[in-house]
Amino acid sequence: MIGRLNHVAIAVPDLAAASAQYRDTLGATVGAPQDEPDHGVTVVFITLPNTKIELLYPLGDSSPITGFLDKNPAGGIHHICYEVDDILAARDRLKAQGARVLGNGEPKIGAHGKPVLFLHPKDFNGCLIELEQS
Ligand code: CO
Repeated sequence: MIGRLNHVAIAVPDLAAASAQYRDTLGATVGAPQDEPDHGVTVVFITLPNTKIELLYPLGDSSPITGFLDKNPAGGIHHICYEVDDILAARDRLKAQGARVLGNGEPKIGAHGKPVLFLHPKDFNGCLIELEQS
């Protein structure tokens, strides 16, 4: 059911410093910061030949990233995103198998303008999974 790895998301305590490190030290193609108020994050996308890296920084008072950075002050891998052909069919199949979908269970529009859902990390080996319609 899952397809390509769309991105790996890393929560960072300093978005400018992390962007500069990927651009200048690692020599990657780094995009401009984008605010995603619906998700409580500011994101920077880094384009690699085979996938993307998403740097995440808290936006607003109730950002889901704030608690993560409190527990991981140096930052850390926050989630991985897999592509699916049909996000509603994927959701229904996963729910039927007992997986928990976060939020109200309805897809939101993600950072690439496509519908996304998140799956509970406790159901997937401690890894928060994002599904994005391809
Ligand atoms: Co993501």
